[in-house]
Amino acid sequence: MSNLPWADSKKLDEKDFYNREQEINNLSNILDSTGESHAPKILLTGIRRVGKTVLLNRIKDIMDEDYLVINMDFSMSQTYQKNNMSIEGLLDYYYNQIIKESKRRKLNTLDSKINKFLKSNNFKLKDVLSFEHIPIPVITSKRDLNKYIEFVFNLPEKIYEKNKDKIKGVIIIIDEFQIIKEIGNYLESFLWVFRGYITGQPNIAYILSGSMSLQDNLISEIAGLNGVFGGGMITIHVNPFTKETTRKYLEEKAPEIMFTDDGFERFYKCTSGIPAYINIFGRLLPSGVVLDERGVVENFDNNLPMIITHLINQWNRLTIKEKDIIIELLDKPLKRIELADNLGVKSGSLGGKLNNLINQGLISNVNGKYEVTALLLKRWLILEYEKNNIYPYKI
Ligand SMILES: Nc1ncnc2c1ncn2[C@@H]1O[C@H](COP(=O)(O)OP(=O)(O)OP(=O)(O)O)[C@@H](O)[C@H]1O
Ligand SMILES: [Mg+2]
Repeated sequence: MSNLPWADSKKLDEKDFYNREQEINNLSNILDSTGESHAPKILLTGIRRVGKTVLLNRIKDIMDEDYLVINMDFSMSQTYQKNNMSIEGLLDYYYNQIIKESKRRKLNTLDSKINKFLKSNNFKLKDVLSFEHIPIPVITSKRDLNKYIEFVFNLPEKIYEKNKDKIKGVIIIIDEFQIIKEIGNYLESFLWVFRGYITGQPNIAYILSGSMSLQDNLISEIAGLNGVFGGGMITIHVNPFTKETTRKYLEEKAPEIMFTDDGFERFYKCTSGIPAYINIFGRLLPSGVVLDERGVVENFDNNLPMIITHLINQWNRLTIKEKDIIIELLDKPLKRIELADNLGVKSGSLGGKLNNLINQGLISNVNGKYEVTALLLKRWLILEYEKNNIYPYKI
């Protein structure tokens, strides 16, 4: 078995992290304008499992020397984990992460000022969430919430001002940003408010990213010309590995995996150059055996459930109706009206479900027809049907 990294690693050390030179150069150049008080706001996109999170963690390591880099992952917030999403909960997390990282860097975190602010606004304090005795206010009214929002979103500027001699600026990375969609009315209640604060901060750079499909409405809501940032966001896209990069990657990191030319072509096709799949599938291939096309397909089909565990989890979370839609589309792309006819439902009833499947990156709409874009899921469903004569609605 090869030593390729596990596919659930969120952070890779330098020896495991491969390539991405161009993205790293690009990102660090853009981010460096923060030092000249032109802090950029960036949206990092890329299909699922392509390596956005590990790239962001590399960026943190690289920029850490000159900047205060705060890495947030909204899916790690208590409010999300406990299935109790609220703006207030997200702010608690935001605030905690800022203070935690600043303290780790031994920066002045304005503790006495914060205490004074909280006291003078008559906030009651809760201590369940507190990290190293950071007071966190209890929010009971809309007025308090607005003050808390202002306080939290302005805190990075304040910390920068106080620590100018030690850092060139602040970089805030927010991964799994799409989680804000679980806040009711997130556009008005969160996104616009957030924008109001962050666009006026010349020394604080922001990178937003997450597990979004490229057709997710959130992307245009953030970065589109009519989006919240009105075109003021820089979008950087992370691509899958090219065939050449994949070949070099395997030669360097897993020389024990051997292919004929056809075998390699098939390996690339099966993984679509997505690093997570390259790593999982690579780890499952036998060492020291030359694999031709058939060998690759056999190994792939036999190991498919292991390669796509996260897609199968995603499948499991779909409703029966959503599963029906995917199954109906396995054969060929269909127009919405055709799909509705085949399923025996009204076309109007499909809107929300189709949108949800698109947002999850499982299907897409190409020239007016819906098709399955999660090809590995498609392959698995077909194989399961061949094996059991029934689609795996429940597993
Ligand atoms: N540059 C790289 N070098 C080696 N392996 C990589 C690289 N980028 C990604 N990987 C592999 O892919 C896996 C998934 O990467 P990551 O979690 O960063 O993807 P993601 O784009 O954030 O996915 P999601 O959209 O699901 O959040 C990593 O755990 C690692 O195994
Ligand atoms: Mg990620």
